[in-house]
Amino acid sequence: DLAGEMFGILFFVLMAHTAYGDVSYSFPEEMKRGSVIGNIAKDLGLDVNRLSSRKARIDTEGNRKRYCEINLSTGELTVAERIDREEICGDRLSCVLKFEVMLEDPLELHRVSVQIQDINDNSPVFAKELITFEITESAERGSRYRLNVAHDADIGHNAIQRYSLQKNDNFQLSINSNVDGEKKIELLLEKKLDREQQQEVKLILTAVDGGTPPRSGTVAIHIAVLDANDNAPVFSQDIYKVSLPENSPVDTVVVTVSATDADEGQNGEVAYEFSRVSDRARKLFYLNPNTGEIRITGALDFEDEAVYEIFVEGKDGFGLSIVIELADVNDNAPEIQLKSLRSPIPENALPGTEVGIINVQDRDSDNNGQVRCSIQQNVPFKLIPSIKNYYSLVTTGELDRELLSDYNITITATDEGSPPLSSTKNIHLTVADVNDNPPVFQEQNYRAHVQENNKPGSSICSVSATDPDWRQNGTVVYSLLSSDVNDAPVSSFLSINGDTGVIHAVRSFDYEQLKSFKVLVLARDNGSPPLSSNVTVRVFITDENDNSPQILYPSPEGNSFMTEMVPKAAQARSLVSKVIAVDADSGQNAWLSYHIIKATDPGLFTIGVHSGEIRTQRDISESDSMKQNLIVSVRDNGQPSLSATCALYLLISDNLAEVPELKDMSRDESSSKLTFYLIIALVSVSTFFLAFIIIILAVRFCRRRKPRLLFDGAVAIPSAYLPPNYAEVEGAGTLRSAYNCDAYLTTGSRTSDFKFIRSYNEGTLTSFHF
Ligand SMILES: *[C@@H]1O[C@H](CO)[C@@H](O)[C@H](O)[C@H]1NC(C)=O
Ligand SMILES: *[C@@H]1O[C@H](CO)[C@@H](O)[C@H](O)[C@H]1NC(C)=O
Ligand SMILES: *[C@@H]1O[C@H](CO)[C@@H](O)[C@H](O)[C@H]1NC(C)=O
Ligand SMILES: *[C@@H]1O[C@H](CO)[C@@H](O)[C@H](O)[C@H]1NC(C)=O
Repeated sequence: DLAGEMFGILFFVLMAHTAYGDVSYSFPEEMKRGSVIGNIAKDLGLDVNRLSSRKARIDTEGNRKRYCEINLSTGELTVAERIDREEICGDRLSCVLKFEVMLEDPLELHRVSVQIQDINDNSPVFAKELITFEITESAERGSRYRLNVAHDADIGHNAIQRYSLQKNDNFQLSINSNVDGEKKIELLLEKKLDREQQQEVKLILTAVDGGTPPRSGTVAIHIAVLDANDNAPVFSQDIYKVSLPENSPVDTVVVTVSATDADEGQNGEVAYEFSRVSDRARKLFYLNPNTGEIRITGALDFEDEAVYEIFVEGKDGFGLSIVIELADVNDNAPEIQLKSLRSPIPENALPGTEVGIINVQDRDSDNNGQVRCSIQQNVPFKLIPSIKNYYSLVTTGELDRELLSDYNITITATDEGSPPLSSTKNIHLTVADVNDNPPVFQEQNYRAHVQENNKPGSSICSVSATDPDWRQNGTVVYSLLSSDVNDAPVSSFLSINGDTGVIHAVRSFDYEQLKSFKVLVLARDNGSPPLSSNVTVRVFITDENDNSPQILYPSPEGNSFMTEMVPKAAQARSLVSKVIAVDADSGQNAWLSYHIIKATDPGLFTIGVHSGEIRTQRDISESDSMKQNLIVSVRDNGQPSLSATCALYLLISDNLAEVPELKDMSRDESSSKLTFYLIIALVSVSTFFLAFIIIILAVRFCRRRKPRLLFDGAVAIPSAYLPPNYAEVEGAGTLRSAYNCDAYLTTGSRTSDFKFIRSYNEGTLTSFHF
């Protein structure tokens, strides 16, 4: 049927997976140690060169003796121990050594059987050296006297083939075989005995086996010829068969044999004795010579020997055999043996990987020896039955050393006896590391703030990554990924300690040059192949007040030409001039304040603290000195603050004719002629320009009909005045840069009178409009 067929296929597949092939040999017993039985590698199709690496070995069931071994260099199966067929198999006709050849990586199991051939190494042996009979002379011709057969440990052809009796006048040998093939030998009285002629008859019985050469054994038979009527004891049965549970206690009566002797009185008393009994049986059973009672004197074990055959004799002549069969009792717990274990097993082993092979033995028979094997629930392993009594331990899921690095696997084997017996075995399995985890940084990204003008070599921050793998697979090494910062390799800015992840500055940073930058730090483990991950470290350079305010207007050199004209009609709060200064720092460090620290007439002009605008404080009067000098200090708000000063020369005049006096105003008394002419030229141009302005103002004034004269200073600031680094707008620092930009723009653009064009780096003259 289908189910059967499917089972068959399934079974075949299972067998094909586990038992790759069986091989059997036939080999005589008693061969020299090292004799070659066969080449097992060749016969199983194994690669001889890999036998050693695959740990090819012979595995016998239980703790049985290992009679064979494999020569790993040749693949030959050789004799390792004396193989005595009679010792191993006794009387059994077939004697087969069974074992498994096991290989690992991948695990393989082959069943090997060696049929042990008998050699004629045993002679026939009679149980006794001498057999005595008492036969009356009245015994009739044709009377038969049964004899115990000889025993030859060899089997088949090498067993006893024939018996011969020494030639004599009275007796012949009669040999019959019964239906069981059991031989029955008897002395047949051919010619009546005559005591008066011969009191005793001595004969030699010889048993010969069929070996080449044959071996023989003899026994002497002494027959006393009696006068009186005498009877030999007769057993009530020819054979006794007893069944006995193996755990029967000492002193249990097994059986009582009884023989009767027709004689009366002392002649009728029968004495019993063992005739042929194995050494083992002699230790286990005691025969009471008077009562014929057989008792147990030792511990019986079905697993050692299931059947004992004992021969018991009455006083003389033929005895009887007692067969004691032991019945199995579930007295052996299953025995679990670990035949092979792949430990440690790599954590990336696929589910279904074979980890070990387990063999379970139960020495009991039938149900008592039927074993079920199980494994505890919470481990990712299972047992798969393989060929008889073998189980493969395979993984059922993924292993992860980082989660669990070793397993205690408990295997339980239970037999089906009642009550069942069970045993457990713990297997300790470790999981080997595979480099399957990249280092992981503790933070997604890192930020470091460094004060500018730092000391080269100072540490600025540290990164840390962890890798849960084992040893070098989890050892993290840090490095900087090469990249460019401001067209220079990052290594000229930072260095990292490969072991600790501490990042050091290689140089001193200048906030005004570089406000921030980023680098990629790589964390790599030492596995092969290594795994790595990277993280961005942003370095922000913080400002330090290391730049003094820089005065753009008036020219800080205190150039004497920078003279502002103040109309005499200027009223209070008129804008006269403006000090423009910048500071390369940022934030508070660039927050500028303006102060007049020295003035010709301290009450006349004020300066806007933050705007730098110089205004008249009151209307100008005729009494005011025409030449007014102001020293202005520009301070930033840093800690400590830095400052710069400049001088302003103001000329209260509407009249260009007063210009020649300019020279006197100059603090720098340069008397060079060239300078003088230059001043003349400049003043002329200025005067011309001023006139032009006055005309325009007059036109305006007329339109508005407002008699207020307002001075609007027109200051041209060439871009060249700005320090070159102001043009720099660094990408990462946009925000700060913009803020910085704002910071100094506001100082100049609070007032609507000046509009500072932001595109300072255009290289053209920019101007202020009105
Ligand atoms: C295996 O066989 C080789 C060749 O016959 C021999 O030299 C060697 O001694 C043998 N090894 C063992 C362990 O018997
Ligand atoms: C396994 O057993 C050993 C001792 O028997 C113990 O030290 C170890 O912690 C156990 N491991 C697990 C994973 O239970
Ligand atoms: C590291 O992992 C590799 C496989 O990736 C493995 O072969 C090696 O044995 C591991 N090293 C350690 C020390 O566990
Ligand atoms: C950095 O890591 C990202 C993913 O985290 C990866 O895509 C990139 O290739 C890495 N860069 C380098 C240079 O290794």
